[in-house]
Amino acid sequence: MKVLVTGGAGFIASHVADAYIAGGHEVVIVDDLSRGFEHNVNSRARFYCGDILDRAFLEDMFEKEKPEVINHHAAQMDVRRGVREPIFDASVNILGSINLLELAVQHKVRRIVYISSAGAGYGEPKTLPVLEDDPINPITPYGISTHTVEHYLFTFSFLYGLEYAVLRYGNVYGPRQSSQGEAGVFAIFCEQMLAGVQPVMYGDGKKWRDYVYIDDVVRANVAALDLGRGEIFNIGNGVPTTDYEVFALVRDLLGKDMEPEYTSVRAGEIEKIVLDVSKAARILGWKPEVSMAEGAKRTVEFFVSIANVTRV
Ligand SMILES: NC(=O)c1ccc[n+]([C@@H]2O[C@H](COP(=O)([O-])OP(=O)(O)OC[C@H]3O[C@@H](n4cnc5c(N)ncnc54)[C@H](O)[C@@H]3O)[C@@H](O)[C@H]2O)c1
Repeated sequence: MKVLVTGGAGFIASHVADAYIAGGHEVVIVDDLSRGFEHNVNSRARFYCGDILDRAFLEDMFEKEKPEVINHHAAQMDVRRGVREPIFDASVNILGSINLLELAVQHKVRRIVYISSAGAGYGEPKTLPVLEDDPINPITPYGISTHTVEHYLFTFSFLYGLEYAVLRYGNVYGPRQSSQGEAGVFAIFCEQMLAGVQPVMYGDGKKWRDYVYIDDVVRANVAALDLGRGEIFNIGNGVPTTDYEVFALVRDLLGKDMEPEYTSVRAGEIEKIVLDVSKAARILGWKPEVSMAEGAKRTVEFFVSIANVTRV
């Protein structure tokens, strides 16, 4: 089938596009390269460089390509930029998504796979692990904007029969991750330690996150091409990992002798989250398969290779 992958020059969606192409699908990528890189774009995809806020650009692309399915990853995903510039955040994440939804209806797109954020959406959960039906209490504009699109999807499905599935990610990590933006802690620690810089730890290092390796996330996107009509899925590892544990994993794999410099926690950071991923297992037939130890090893190897360092 022909799949439009938005954000396909970025970290996660470039891997998703690679997997779709490897699975025999025709892939069209839209990305404005504001955060992504052309070298991440699969050479077998057709690439349109442009902004999802640019309606004329999108209309032209839909007219030419007529995608059957949309996988929507393009977003303003920098939590702190969202705090500083909530109007920009809402424009890209909400209005940009509505552009795609309207064109999807107009061009009879069969299905949309929409990417949302678990950590940003649930806020500070009252009970752990968090289930998809638990309360949504975002504490940042980015959390509001990514979650809001879930409501538009429900409404567009009700009004126009647009089919969709939502994947709410935990903290995704792996090769090609940028050290900027949400959840880039693996990339940040790798880059800093490789450069001999002492990493800064925001808080006491005991915050919990649910880290999920990129290959597992990609498999969820493959399953969501067909399964889970009108459903929302947590995509995480289901295992809590502290900030300090990530630091120690990276440090030990790099063979460094370092401790972080501790500083105060930043606004918009939650204390503890871990996801219940049993719904994805039941409906998508998906389970995380890559352990933290294995995922960390593969991630560190990638950052070492791009830093042109031979060790590990
Ligand atoms: N990284 C994580 O841990 C994580 C966690 C939860 C949710 N998500 C979501 O996953 C998606 C991808 O995240 P990522 O980590 O790969 O980030 P990323 O920044 O690497 O990828 C986003 C891509 O979207 C592109 N983009 C941004 N604004 C655009 C616009 N207006 N028009 C066209 N393209 C635009 C960027 O250039 C970039 O290539 C985002 O929707 C993000 O909210 C990521």
